[in-house]
Amino acid sequence: MAVVADLRSDTLTRPTAAMRAAMVDAEVGDDVYGEDPTVVALERRVADLLGHEAALFMPTGSMANQVGLRLHAGPGQEVITDSLAHVLRAELGAAAAYSGITTRSWVAGRGRLDVDAALAMMVPDGGLYQVSTACVVVENTHNFGGGTVQPLADLRRLREATAEVGVRVHLDGARLWNASVATGVALSDYGSCADTVSVCLSKGLGAPVGSVLAADAARIQQARVWRKRLGGGMRQVGLLAAAGLHALDHHVDRLAHDHARARRAAESLAAVAPGVVDPTDVHTNILVLDVSAAGWSAGELVARAGEAGVMGYPTDPRHARYVWHLDVDDPMTDHAVAVLGELLGSRA
Ligand SMILES: Cc1ncc(COP(=O)(O)O)c(C=O)c1O
Repeated sequence: MAVVADLRSDTLTRPTAAMRAAMVDAEVGDDVYGEDPTVVALERRVADLLGHEAALFMPTGSMANQVGLRLHAGPGQEVITDSLAHVLRAELGAAAAYSGITTRSWVAGRGRLDVDAALAMMVPDGGLYQVSTACVVVENTHNFGGGTVQPLADLRRLREATAEVGVRVHLDGARLWNASVATGVALSDYGSCADTVSVCLSKGLGAPVGSVLAADAARIQQARVWRKRLGGGMRQVGLLAAAGLHALDHHVDRLAHDHARARRAAESLAAVAPGVVDPTDVHTNILVLDVSAAGWSAGELVARAGEAGVMGYPTDPRHARYVWHLDVDDPMTDHAVAVLGELLGSRA
């Protein structure tokens, strides 16, 4: 059979046989009663990794983010972030729809955190005239930005400046594992830069479902209420938490392979189609190509490459995204490079 490289997203991974076995054997209980030992173990493990007091298992990263935001901001308050942030672009307006939160954003190349822009935009106490900023959201790594890792020094500067004026920080760390593997920075160092942190087990780590929100114990207690209110109170969900624990044991270090493959693809494609990507911008497992630089629209390129078995996702009319993960190996990467290289090179 012809090689197919499904690079649309790292959410496409299927649980391995070993992960499935871990799920089958999981001890379970009713988690709404706080009686599922596997969920409790996962929450403890993630809280410790992130250096926070407590954590809460969530069905999705979107719910983890939105509950996090709800802890910091309510109706008529503001959250600010960059214009490509997942919480703005891809959670279907949840902050407005559920929490009455308004948002403003700064434009940042490749989703890179712009601390000066954030601080200049922030209005900690708007009084009667301006909306007050309750929270800044930082995404690390940055999905639509192309897997961008945020520098720890910038995260620390933001943390200090916001704390001085009582503005909170939420870290959307859906792929914080990738940032940590790419840089060697401990998860707890990233965790210390935010009041709330969301992480996903269902992206490159390969679990079928699951995210975790970490914070101090009082906030996690409140988060438990919001999760239930939103319909996210789950029962014998240790089956899923076991997949997450298995992923933490077996699938974190291997993320480095995904990063190396994405970088290798970027280097090859930059050689045949200069301007589509700067390989040094590819920090982790996500390759975002500016295909307009090679004379393509993203929709057209993604469709043509898809016909040859290389599947991607057009994030906007100019940009096509290709994501490496657990189910993508070297031959698939070679195939993707050959197909994309030929298409991009044909008009460059
Ligand atoms: C950066 C980021 N945050 C949050 C999410 C939301 O995760 P979920 O699809 O589990 O809601 C995603 C999903 O891809 C993401 O990329």
